[in-house]
Amino acid sequence: MEEKTAIKIKRIEELRDLIDYHNKRYYQLDDPEISDFEYDHLMRELIALENQYAEHIDINVSPTQRVGAAPLEKFDSIPHLSPMLSLSNAFSEEEIISFDERIKRLLNTQEDISFVVEPKLDGIGVNLLYEKGVFKSGSTRGDGAIGEDITQNLRTIHSIPLKMDSVPAIAGAIPDLIEIRGEVYIGTDTFKELNRQRIAGGDTAFANPRNAAAGSLRQLDSRITAKRPLDIFCYAMGFAEGISFRTHWDFLQGLADWGFSVNPHIRKAEDIHECIAYYREMIARRETLPYEIDGTVIKVDSTDIRRHLGSVSRSPRWAIACKFAATQATTVIEDIVIQIGRTGVLTPVALMKPVRVGGVMVSRATLHNQDEIDRKNIHIGDTVIVQRAGDVIPEIVKTVEPSEKDSEDPFRIPDTCPICGSRIVRLEGESAHRCINLDCPAQIRENITHFVSRGGMDIDGLGEKLISQMSERGIIGDPADLYYLTEDNLTGLERMGNVSARNLLSSLEKSKTPPLEKFIFSLGIRHTGEHISKILARRFATLDNIMSASEETLLSIKEIGPEIAGSITTFFREPSNLKTMERLKKAGVKPVEGHIASGGLSGKTFVLTGTLEKFSRNRAKEIIESLGGNVSSSVTKNTDYVVVGISPGSKLDKASRLEIPVIDEEEFLEITGQGVRGKE
Ligand code: IVH
Repeated sequence: MEEKTAIKIKRIEELRDLIDYHNKRYYQLDDPEISDFEYDHLMRELIALENQYAEHIDINVSPTQRVGAAPLEKFDSIPHLSPMLSLSNAFSEEEIISFDERIKRLLNTQEDISFVVEPKLDGIGVNLLYEKGVFKSGSTRGDGAIGEDITQNLRTIHSIPLKMDSVPAIAGAIPDLIEIRGEVYIGTDTFKELNRQRIAGGDTAFANPRNAAAGSLRQLDSRITAKRPLDIFCYAMGFAEGISFRTHWDFLQGLADWGFSVNPHIRKAEDIHECIAYYREMIARRETLPYEIDGTVIKVDSTDIRRHLGSVSRSPRWAIACKFAATQATTVIEDIVIQIGRTGVLTPVALMKPVRVGGVMVSRATLHNQDEIDRKNIHIGDTVIVQRAGDVIPEIVKTVEPSEKDSEDPFRIPDTCPICGSRIVRLEGESAHRCINLDCPAQIRENITHFVSRGGMDIDGLGEKLISQMSERGIIGDPADLYYLTEDNLTGLERMGNVSARNLLSSLEKSKTPPLEKFIFSLGIRHTGEHISKILARRFATLDNIMSASEETLLSIKEIGPEIAGSITTFFREPSNLKTMERLKKAGVKPVEGHIASGGLSGKTFVLTGTLEKFSRNRAKEIIESLGGNVSSSVTKNTDYVVVGISPGSKLDKASRLEIPVIDEEEFLEITGQGVRGKE
């Protein structure tokens, strides 16, 4: 490199450090040292030099990248190197105590466990990948295994380091590879300001800071994201290579030293009672914090103990979210409207004078059904108490000051459907009123909207308005009809030209081979959401197997109880559903299936470690093989479960490193259907 270039590159590095420093003073410490004018001057000099010496430098680590880049067409997906788990919840102090007791039982100890306690931030969880200290990519949580690539947007957040600060004090300093997890949020004051600006500019206001953060992160144009007041607190590590920490507390110190922002209210707790004291304290301080929290999180501090405890299903056993109880407020019901669901159920919804409940503006609350309305004696015009618990839909607790209509009968759900005019019925033993007209456009719309949603068939270009139009004109009556649409059907619709029609037909064509679990979810079987659909797909591997599964077989699955089992078998017995399935098949819709299952553990690999108490290794092997699984002697990334007995060896460590589910003997019996259901 010639000397002049070397000097200019040195200047680029100097400017980057300087601007990083001033960014920190401005964005994180709220204490700028230079004027905006001086700052802009430095920035302009840097941009000019970077353009001139582009081939010699890595642009990704430059503060010039924080302003956003050209818009994307869509987000790519990124697999997480280790799964992004979620937390199980405790809703009371008793449940927090049970969490501690369970850990002690699993560890077979009476000694107190050390924890770290943290605020539970009400934002959007993200994963940040750093390679040799450089921010490479960032993604949303997605389904926990694969997220959406929102790197461009995350780069615009000033509190996310583009380069980790190197700190020799930390063992290993900068790791070769590390996933850092945190919560992106918008502060309450900046949220208000953002909404004020939006309303002034003729845009709709965001309902709450969480939605504002989510909406801003999912912008395809990162220049818009750059203008949103997003911030982050980091709190966990995913996959890591070239570094390890003895405790979570040490990790948090490391995070801060590397330049990540770590929440200042995080504390150590020597036992569970200190965790409870912290929970109470945070309930009291919640309203004074400059961002929203919806609970606290308790995490086991020791890495060894965490490894030993492992995780079940989608949450670690070593942590728990302690949710805050519902908060309440008083307001007036201005109107009551009727919503129609996929199954024709009518839900009365109160439209209320907007009111702040636990930091969120609320203007709608469900009234559930007629019985609830009668019990609470609800009329339009009543002053009521509304309550909101976590992310649950707000509900009305009671009437405080009845309107003058007090003596009149409470609000009545109409006798005819507000959409199709058919008679409304209430079946014996049910609390719900239903529109039983299967051709009711509202039901068709809800059904098809669910079918094409992202968690389902994921079909682009089919919004609710378009679906409404098509169902009102009788072009579609059930999901299968979508696959028989022609260009002629579509071009007659509002705002639908030849190009859009062709695009839609091609999205439909592309959607014909969905993963089995998404297909099952899209059918909208009652009580069968994404989680249960996934379980069904894994357990049965093929659509035919699921369709023919008996209630008894379904009940042998841990997560499935009588209600879910009943709704699945009823769905696949219903002639009209079978006809839809047949027509979907004829149109070429064919979910991607797994191996043909010979038993519930088909294709699953188990590793056994430690001394098993409840049964011999041979018996375990027999059980696994009889269900179609196999047993292997070493843990690899292809292992599905590690079964631990007493004094397990290094296999357990390897399993935790690879984040492979570790189960004890009892859970093994449960998974294999040998245990007592509902035990524990
Ligand atoms: S730790 C395996 N710590 O809550 C544990 N999560 O349901 C990984 N969250 O997906 C999460 N504050 O988005 C952790 N201090 C905190 C948190 C936190 C908020 C979110 C996070 C996670 C969800 C758990």
